[in-house]
Amino acid sequence: MKKITKICCIGAGYVGGPTMSVIAKQCPEIKVTVVDINKNRIDQWNTANLDELPIYEPGLKEIVGERRGKNLFFSTEVDKAIDEAEMIFISVNTPTKIYGKGKGQAADLKFIELCARNIAKVAKDDKIVVEKSTLPVRTAQTIQNILDNTGNSVKFDILSNPEFLAEGTAIDDLLNADRVLIGGNDTPSGQAAKDALSAVYEHWLPKERILQTNVWSSELSKLVANAFLAQRVSSINTISALCEKTDANIQEISRAIGFDSRIGPKFLNASVGFGGSCFQKDILNLVYIARSYGLNEVADYWEQVIIANDYQKSRFADNIISSLYNTISGKKIIIYGWAFKKDTNDTRESAAIAVADALLEEQAEIIVYDPKVSEERIYADLDYLNTRSPEENRRLLKVAKNPMEATQNAHAIAILTEWDEFKNYDWKTIYNQMLKPAFVFDGRRLLDNDTMESIGFNYYKIGQS
Ligand code: UDX
Ligand code: UDX
Repeated sequence: MKKITKICCIGAGYVGGPTMSVIAKQCPEIKVTVVDINKNRIDQWNTANLDELPIYEPGLKEIVGERRGKNLFFSTEVDKAIDEAEMIFISVNTPTKIYGKGKGQAADLKFIELCARNIAKVAKDDKIVVEKSTLPVRTAQTIQNILDNTGNSVKFDILSNPEFLAEGTAIDDLLNADRVLIGGNDTPSGQAAKDALSAVYEHWLPKERILQTNVWSSELSKLVANAFLAQRVSSINTISALCEKTDANIQEISRAIGFDSRIGPKFLNASVGFGGSCFQKDILNLVYIARSYGLNEVADYWEQVIIANDYQKSRFADNIISSLYNTISGKKIIIYGWAFKKDTNDTRESAAIAVADALLEEQAEIIVYDPKVSEERIYADLDYLNTRSPEENRRLLKVAKNPMEATQNAHAIAILTEWDEFKNYDWKTIYNQMLKPAFVFDGRRLLDNDTMESIGFNYYKIGQS
């Protein structure tokens, strides 16, 4: 079996950056080079001040500080890194297509194809190519075809090695992975490639947790894992709507059903809706694949998970509007939290974007505070929707640096990300500063009912009447 000494990863994003940092930490004898076509991003990875890394992830800056310049490198010299490495990870983004066939559902593979063509052009000796990006089933075949037909008769082995890390806990998820999945061909060279990648992970994970499968199972498993997780959130969120109409309490229900060992306690937190770069995209992908094989019932079943999620977001916004006497025009509403979950600065598909957009449609004046998300990002997210002009977005929505100050004369506060710091705010002072009646809409079930009500708030908590 070939021993890996040099790894290259194309794509220095939320997946590539943390994953490669952990490999570099756990495999000090392997040289790991992360490359990206975005020079700005690479400069940020190389910044002297570790607080300015492009991605915020607990535990990440310590690892980058320890390994950078030793066996971990960030560079824009893509060709050089490909040429040197025996193993190349592809970790570029695969957004949902916004044009042409499969628009709005299928994954856009143009970056993957560009990477494959580039590898084929540069490679002078045999390479193992690892797909890390989440991809539709059978993408490995596409990569293989491109490599075999455009390369310099070099031998390529393609592996699928999907990422299961969740943002905010990425480093811990990588260090203590439940399992690592490696899909590859059953040929002798395919087996050798799988074993070579397995040996990398065996530096820190027990062999039993490293599962080898065929390529298709590996690719599809990633989509299915995310679909099942998202389905749990949508399931509990639909029940939260029912709880609000009855005297049932969603937390008590989650606890009661979670004690059933067949169901289990995780991923049963009702929320304003799931976000993140993966859940929606992967389900749309699954739906697209199922439909393309004529499996309409299968497609409809999974599509419902997304429909329920959209419903949860709009239901939350509608409730704010109706509670504020059906008119929020000119009313000051504070949004606490823009990230799609706590402990990340990532906002992709965040429920906050949809809720803010709905409130802006009603001409509310919005002030957003998030401890880690930049003002630039917030406006970019809104502008991307194209609901109104960028000028209008900037006129109606402001971004606050100070969470307390923002609440002066506010009508309502909506909590959309479960940042821990929100729990420790001086809610009494906030109440005193707000207009009365003062409303708090808690989309993350973060605060305590009795405390909030005794202060005087009109407090709404998702999943409770
Ligand atoms: C991405 C995918 O979205 C996800 O499906 C997959 O599982 C892993 O890769 P993420 O790392 O979160 O996730 O994406 P992003 O943060 O956008 O990073 C991708 C990086 O690839 C960007 O920095 C981009 O500049 C870079 N890139 C893209 C290249 O270096 N070359 C390209 O041709 C295209
Ligand atoms: C997910 C998968 O968990 C991970 O394995 C995969 O590699 C990428 O996609 P991520 O999107 O980073 O990870 O975060 P996750 O913790 O799964 O949360 C996704 C969304 O669901 C967040 O918006 C979160 O707030 C929401 N969620 C999660 C709930 O609303 N309730 C829950 O009980 C759990």
